[in-house]
Amino acid sequence: MAFAGVEPPFSAQVLTEWLGFWQFSEQLFTGSLFMALIALPWAPLLRPLRALVARHWLRESDVDALLARLQPAWRLNRVFARVEARHWVADDMLALTLRPNGNWRGAQPGQHVQVYLEQAGVRLSRSYSLTALHADGRLEIAIKRQPGGRVSPHLLDWLAVGQVLELGPAFGELRWDARSPGVLLLAAGSGITPLLGLLRSALAQGFSAPISVLHYVREQGQRAFVAELQALQAQYANLQVRWVLTGAPLTAELQGRFNAAHLIEVAELSQRQVLACGSAGFVEQVQQWWRSAGQGSALQVEAFTPPRLLATAARREVRLGFVRSQQSVVGDTRRSLLEQAESQGLRPAHGCRQGICASCTCVLLAGVVRDLRSGALFDEPGQPIRLCISAPHGDVAIDL
Ligand code: FES
Repeated sequence: MAFAGVEPPFSAQVLTEWLGFWQFSEQLFTGSLFMALIALPWAPLLRPLRALVARHWLRESDVDALLARLQPAWRLNRVFARVEARHWVADDMLALTLRPNGNWRGAQPGQHVQVYLEQAGVRLSRSYSLTALHADGRLEIAIKRQPGGRVSPHLLDWLAVGQVLELGPAFGELRWDARSPGVLLLAAGSGITPLLGLLRSALAQGFSAPISVLHYVREQGQRAFVAELQALQAQYANLQVRWVLTGAPLTAELQGRFNAAHLIEVAELSQRQVLACGSAGFVEQVQQWWRSAGQGSALQVEAFTPPRLLATAARREVRLGFVRSQQSVVGDTRRSLLEQAESQGLRPAHGCRQGICASCTCVLLAGVVRDLRSGALFDEPGQPIRLCISAPHGDVAIDL
């Protein structure tokens, strides 16, 4: 597509000719010399290309196509990462070590990234937690198989070392308080992954107060990172790890869904900072316990399944203005703005669809929206709202 109705002066054809030159050069050089050239710090050379793209003299997609031919993970602005290693950490969970390109802006332990994948021309994305951040820039994520899913089976079964993946920016609010007199980590299923990222980082930084980890899984083979957690437990006297099986009974382990009896061995429980991650149902159980126990300590939770949304609002017809798209349509007060925009054929950016990643944030221009999680109303023009967890409360206009 041309910008402002004119073709960029440097077309895809010109870039392809450059590429032809590069490929010819590759044949002239020995493989190792060419690889040495590729390894040079090319990042500063991308600045003029970015300037040309910003002036619409070049298309970013053309430049990206050229860069990807030179090095699969190179892009002008987008983050691509090369798969450097893969290993199974449970029967149904794979850990990937990734080396992102220079566009990666870093992350905090406990955060997540969006992984993008194109399948049969359809762009798909899923959020995965960062289980480790290495000092040399590599990062690790863990992917749990979702039977019948469209993304995880592909990543687990087909993604090979050396291939590349596109990543979004890191997001997530879980934080480890280094001054806490003790920490309790409660995880269900793949909820262990962000907590492991926090745990690794805290131990590496010398956190010495007591830490207890309870990981809830249906069956024994789903206990992820067992060898590593056991090794950490052997290395750090302040760390205690327990697994709870919620499915098939096993006498030596704790059993059943989360309940206060599982915390009997946790010393000075009321002093502990509590971090919980798992399904929305698991997180709700932890919150209920925390409220009823009158815990004085801080609680942070994160659910990886969509929050249960309040369906208390009466269904009314309203008018939705998607201003940048120049659409004014009839909508309703029950469904999220993301859902309603998509049903009109719009393609708003989004990631988690749970109100966590902020990638669906848009500006409210007029009207009132309701937060589907809490029922709170927002009516300030110019206010950023998350489309996936906001429903119109009346006629609204948003900058989309
Ligand atoms: S899609 Fe992640 S906050 Fe809306």
